[in-house]
Amino acid sequence: VINRARQIASKSRGKVLRVRPTSDPAYATHLPVLAALARITTIRRVLELGSGPFSTSMFLNRDVFPDLDILTSYEDDPNWEHVVLDAVGSDTRLEFRMVPEVRLAVPPTDGYDLVFIDDSRLPSERSTTIRAVKAMRPRGIVAIHDFEQRHYRTAARGFSHRFIFNTLTPQVGVCWFGDAVDPSQLKRASRTIAGEIGRVSITDQSGWGGLFRAIG
Ligand SMILES: C[S@@+](CC[C@H](N)C(=O)[O-])C[C@H]1O[C@@H](n2cnc3c(N)ncnc32)[C@H](O)[C@@H]1O
Repeated sequence: VINRARQIASKSRGKVLRVRPTSDPAYATHLPVLAALARITTIRRVLELGSGPFSTSMFLNRDVFPDLDILTSYEDDPNWEHVVLDAVGSDTRLEFRMVPEVRLAVPPTDGYDLVFIDDSRLPSERSTTIRAVKAMRPRGIVAIHDFEQRHYRTAARGFSHRFIFNTLTPQVGVCWFGDAVDPSQLKRASRTIAGEIGRVSITDQSGWGGLFRAIG
């Protein structure tokens, strides 16, 4: 009875506060969004700030990112480097760069169609990365994981546009200058993710890739 009461209380609190469900696994909520971006625009060059078995391997998955020529991935944790490289194997399209601190080593964003920001484990550090990217006024799209974090939303102020994929928490913020992406397509992709989340597993890269390929 107590558990049931707790469930009801939690559900009501979620409705009142409009808190979206937290995904399991929590670290992979960016995968459906990245798969959608690959179909909304042509993505040949990706700058990834903060690597991992989820995002790095998805960018290299030809079913999901068929146009990818170069993935430049910045990482600063030597233990994590091994985890990531073991997971993705060798791929000539991958330029993996180990640096002392990603946030202090952000390279020029010129020529990248997509910058994906998911570095570090501390909000203050990733906020610095977001500000460094924003200061370069990238021509492409910038996607930021864990965008429910107030620090990241504040750091991203100054981009001329933003769209938040908030079906799942951790959320993904998509920010851009100029006309890098059509917001109505992002809205449509967000509705698709909300509709399919029960049917396609969050980590099913090819499932999401196939879904967005079919929609076109
Ligand atoms: C959120 S993780 C990056 C996840 C990655 N983008 C992905 O989708 O797989 C952020 C950073 O935390 C550090 N890290 C170290 N150990 C980690 C662990 N066990 N799990 C996740 N991140 C770890 C790495 O430097 C990594 O770049």
